Amino acid sequence: MERRPFIAGNWKMYLTLGEAVQLAQAVAATSAACMDRDVMVAPSFTSLAAICAATQGSNLLVGAQNIAWESEGAFTGEISAPMLKDLGVEWAIVGHSERRHIFGENNAMVNRRLHGALNGSIQPILCVGETLADREAGNTFTVLENQVREGLAAVTGQQMARVTLAYEPVWAIGTGKTASKEQAQEVHAFLRQLLANLYEKNIAEAVRILYGGSVKPDNIDDLMAQPDIDGALVGGAALKAESFDRIARFT
Ligand code: PGA
Repeated sequence: MERRPFIAGNWKMYLTLGEAVQLAQAVAATSAACMDRDVMVAPSFTSLAAICAATQGSNLLVGAQNIAWESEGAFTGEISAPMLKDLGVEWAIVGHSERRHIFGENNAMVNRRLHGALNGSIQPILCVGETLADREAGNTFTVLENQVREGLAAVTGQQMARVTLAYEPVWAIGTGKTASKEQAQEVHAFLRQLLANLYEKNIAEAVRILYGGSVKPDNIDDLMAQPDIDGALVGGAALKAESFDRIARFT
């Protein structure tokens, strides 16, 4: 099963509007040169409209960093799928570790957000990952299994065609500590087997599983050479056109 590589930049709470549009234009040029893979940026909500307008007609994918579970209502501070679709946004990250650990989002909330995306025709990237304490206690696989089972609750096999998974070990995010390619591959293979148990083998084989956590120009090639690593979710190294360009052009 050939899975199309997927390189996504998560800009977190960085870049003002002008800076964001400028970087998005540079990344759009990168994506135009990388037709055999998907390239996405996830800027802050305040830059989404301008970036969609500035990169219209390019093959750059644009995603939000989170998404509401309802389409509208009294939900102060939330942004819904129809609002995102209206701008031309087609993707959303859900369950990023910073949402889970800094803002208290649990698996049930993440699952609701995932359904909010799917019901609103937005393609979700579901992030899962263990903390250092989980790993040291030998709980990596139980934690991941719970995050996947509860995060994907009531998601049908048909809907899984629109879901991307991202494995982001919390201890590797923004720390400069990347999981070794063997550690990452071991977890990706585990996640794919879990999907095969929850759905069917052919569905599991088609789902793209991205790795995230200190992905850099100098480790991307090794990571992408692993059979179950289909792409990367990049934080810090996505904020500079040059380093993200090198990552997107992995060989
Ligand atoms: P990082 O962030 O590449 O800066 O470690 C990854 C992420 O949080 O998605």
